[in-house]
Amino acid sequence: MDQDVSSRPGARAIPIHGPEAYEGMRAAGRLAAECLDMLAGEVKPGADTARLDRLAYEFVRDHGAVSGTIGYRGYRHALCISPNHVICHGIPGGKPVNAKPMREGDIANIDITLVLDGWHGDTSRMYYAGEPKVLAQRLTDVTFECLWAGIEQVKPGNTLYDIGKAIQDRAAEDGFTTVHDFCGHGLGRVFHQAPNVVHYGEYRDATGHVHRAPDTVLEPGMFFTIEPMICTGRPDARILRDGWTAVTRDRSLTAQFEHALAVTEDGYEIFTRSPKGLDRPPYTAG
Ligand code: MF3
Ligand code: CO
Ligand code: CO
Repeated sequence: MDQDVSSRPGARAIPIHGPEAYEGMRAAGRLAAECLDMLAGEVKPGADTARLDRLAYEFVRDHGAVSGTIGYRGYRHALCISPNHVICHGIPGGKPVNAKPMREGDIANIDITLVLDGWHGDTSRMYYAGEPKVLAQRLTDVTFECLWAGIEQVKPGNTLYDIGKAIQDRAAEDGFTTVHDFCGHGLGRVFHQAPNVVHYGEYRDATGHVHRAPDTVLEPGMFFTIEPMICTGRPDARILRDGWTAVTRDRSLTAQFEHALAVTEDGYEIFTRSPKGLDRPPYTAG
């Protein structure tokens, strides 16, 4: 996810992509989804997050791709692993949140970005280590539904506002909140580009200022991610001293799912669907 930079000078127009770009994004998105499929069997109590990162690194390398995050603004890992109260950008093996092995009942988001033939595949899912608590499972289920509420708004003529509003409303139905400080983003040959895809319709910040999602109209050929981060408590974020790890200020639980997709003539095409149908946990029977 990206920070909202849409009002900065130099923020560019939204690219409209042609057929060969769709081909490139299908291959990159599929490979990223396959990497998350591979990790499904590896997340369990006792799992070492640095090892998960190594597995992802090797998977990416062995399939002719490169990491999109290693070297990105100084980041040094193939994955972000964000457990429990970590909103996003958790560092594999990093102190304090990922220094110890995963514990029974932990939930975590794992986010991969890779580059295949110049095209970016960016996707994330929630994982359970063992059996989640009732609230953690509920949050995970609602967050998945938030992603889909957003996706269902993707069609020509609808707007970015429609996507954000649908996500916020679905979260609020269960009394959950949506993170304002990080958003989805355009992607293609460039990792983070226009448009910013915020996960709210409208909200009022602490100073009383009202933020509203843009009424930007969706057009066929636009590529972007939708990646809502949903919280059981307040959605305010704080970055730890490592400069990356974003946590909820109130340490409430938070969850996220991410797909990369295109606007098509009659709706959307998702690039990052799980080939194995492992789009949401639990990933193992029993
Ligand atoms: N994959 C994240 C996203 O969805 C971005 C991670 S950037 C990193 O946009 F440097 F933290 F890896
Ligand atoms: Co993203
Ligand atoms: Co991502």
